[in-house]
Amino acid sequence: MIPHPHPIASVTSGGWTRVCALDDIWPDMGVCALVDGQQIAVFRLADDRLFAIANHDPHSGANVLSRGIVGDLGGEVVVASPIYKHHYSLNTGICLEDDTTVLTTFPVQARDGQVWLCAGQG
Ligand code: FES
Repeated sequence: MIPHPHPIASVTSGGWTRVCALDDIWPDMGVCALVDGQQIAVFRLADDRLFAIANHDPHSGANVLSRGIVGDLGGEVVVASPIYKHHYSLNTGICLEDDTTVLTTFPVQARDGQVWLCAGQG
């Protein structure tokens, strides 16, 4: 299937929100979920690990990170912004080229083939 170009509709239960089926995210790709008015980039790695990080790239001012390229930089799982190519750690949200910039990360997990994330303070 084609990666979603727009934020995916969500269903909320408690603090967690179901954003899509795991199979809706291609391995090593991201999607953008809209949760509580926040755009959140959700990535699935080839080994099925999931990461969720703010979709907004503060260096370019654009909501683009779900379309960034995921990879490994010095042992750190990162997404590269499609605009200026800054790399953000998917574990910590820290920008590797400017560690004063830290993006919000969110708990995310797969349950019964569905991807859930928590947009609360965790
Ligand atoms: S996991 Fe939801 S608030 Fe911490």
